[in-house]
Amino acid sequence: MINNDKICLITGASSGIGFAIARALHADNFKVIATARRLDKLTELRLDSNDLFSGDLNLPDFQDSIVDYIFDKYGKCDFLFNCAGSLEVGTIEDIDIDKLTSMIRLNVETTFRLTYKILKRFKNQGFGHVINISSVLGTKVRPTAGGYAATKFAMEAFSEALRMELTGTNIKISCIEPGLVMTELHNDWKVHPKESMNIHDPLTVDNIVDTVKFIINQPDHVRIPRLMILPKDHNI
Ligand SMILES: NC(=O)c1ccc[n+]([C@@H]2O[C@H](COP(=O)([O-])OP(=O)(O)OC[C@H]3O[C@@H](n4cnc5c(N)ncnc54)[C@H](OP(=O)(O)O)[C@@H]3O)[C@@H](O)[C@H]2O)c1
Repeated sequence: MINNDKICLITGASSGIGFAIARALHADNFKVIATARRLDKLTELRLDSNDLFSGDLNLPDFQDSIVDYIFDKYGKCDFLFNCAGSLEVGTIEDIDIDKLTSMIRLNVETTFRLTYKILKRFKNQGFGHVINISSVLGTKVRPTAGGYAATKFAMEAFSEALRMELTGTNIKISCIEPGLVMTELHNDWKVHPKESMNIHDPLTVDNIVDTVKFIINQPDHVRIPRLMILPKDHNI
């Protein structure tokens, strides 16, 4: 498919799910604007260097600079992929409260801020699609993961309210709810969840890319507000 005129902003594009979506959409000739903190990783996407924004998404001015650039240079934006996110879990004894609150800031406050900014632009232009990488933990909880699940429940609630607000418009909002995907997200864990949860074949980033393509290739009148994707061994 030729998509030269489709403009996408992808956060968390330096690794894992965001990187894979950026690489795949670029290969399909979408115009990809990619952001994350690590410029060396963003560079591996081989995009136009002007379309790479390295910085801390928590900073409102940094968000403004990306959004202004897109609309000044391209005059529109078709897709926002909210992939930037972090994961902190732990028992009552072990949880690091500062890391927990910084996760809440990124997953909720920062993501909501950017989404509202882009949605105001989507409303002006009359179209657009926000795709949130939520989680199966946006629909259920696990011991030690209450904080993380709360951020994804928040993303789901936000998205469902927006879907209602946007009924009848050409602006779409979708949440993808993956189970375990092999990325850097669990790199610091002493025991990887594929061991503790007995998931022999976790999802790959390519599985998420296929899900994205399924969602974005739907006809104009179709909405996919939520789509859960799990590995076959996921049993909770
Ligand atoms: N992996 C899974 O099993 C799984 C399952 C369900 C849902 N998810 C969700 O999928 C999303 C992507 O996760 P992933 O698995 O792809 O993990 P990942 O490989 O760790 O990617 C996280 C991305 O977020 C970026 N990021 C983190 N803090 C940032 C900040 N302050 N400012 C800007 N960018 C920041 C990171 O880039 P820099 O470090 O370069 O800034 C990185 O690109 C997350 O929301 C996660 O909750 C993952």
